[in-house]
Amino acid sequence: MTEMELGAQSNMARSSRFAFLDKARFVLARTDSHFLDVHAGIVTSLLIVMAQKNEAIFHHCSRVSGYALPIAHSMKLAVDKWDILVVSALLHDIGKVGISDRILHKQGTLTETEWCLIKQHSGHGVEILSPYQAFRPILPVIRHHHEHYDGQGYPDHLRGEEIPLHARIISVADMYDAMVTDRPYRQACSHSCACAEIARVAGSQLDPVVSDHFLNISKSYQPEHQLLNYYPGWNSMN
Ligand SMILES: [Fe+2]
Repeated sequence: MTEMELGAQSNMARSSRFAFLDKARFVLARTDSHFLDVHAGIVTSLLIVMAQKNEAIFHHCSRVSGYALPIAHSMKLAVDKWDILVVSALLHDIGKVGISDRILHKQGTLTETEWCLIKQHSGHGVEILSPYQAFRPILPVIRHHHEHYDGQGYPDHLRGEEIPLHARIISVADMYDAMVTDRPYRQACSHSCACAEIARVAGSQLDPVVSDHFLNISKSYQPEHQLLNYYPGWNSMN
């Protein structure tokens, strides 16, 4: 393949990969937020690092941002807070770039040591992002996206509304996406199975109010991929 063909192929891959970022900018333009406009370069660079490390993590993060926004919309979250949600959802697993592929791709059950390493990714994410001043508002969201509503999560065992609202929203979106996609250690389950599981753990693992909003949205927008198009303006970007 010539250098020019390689360049064209790379540009095509990049433009389809980052189409969702254009959608996010489109949404944020309505919120008077300049977060993505001003800091889009650094956000995109971090996403490229994530994609180069592990394509699956990158796609997971982009889908989670797609599921989180409709929840915020349904909850009537102040639009000036959407930028924090979008950027933290996009980068919530950035800390996994420091975890070995052997663990990330392991097909069998993780050992206790491997599981401890995985659990460090929320702290690693904060470490990666904290030197950049603009990311300060998203650091608590990154750190606490694996806390459980009943205090049984990690890393700080926060409970209930001690957990930042954006992190509680991302938890629901994260769990949904984790269940409806294939993982090295198990196959995806169906949309209805994932929704049933979210309903089952609402109030223990997940915030019950956030879960209700998600489940209400998901009733009207099956199959799951249509959730990505929930925000009305997004369709015009396709
Ligand atoms: Fe995570």
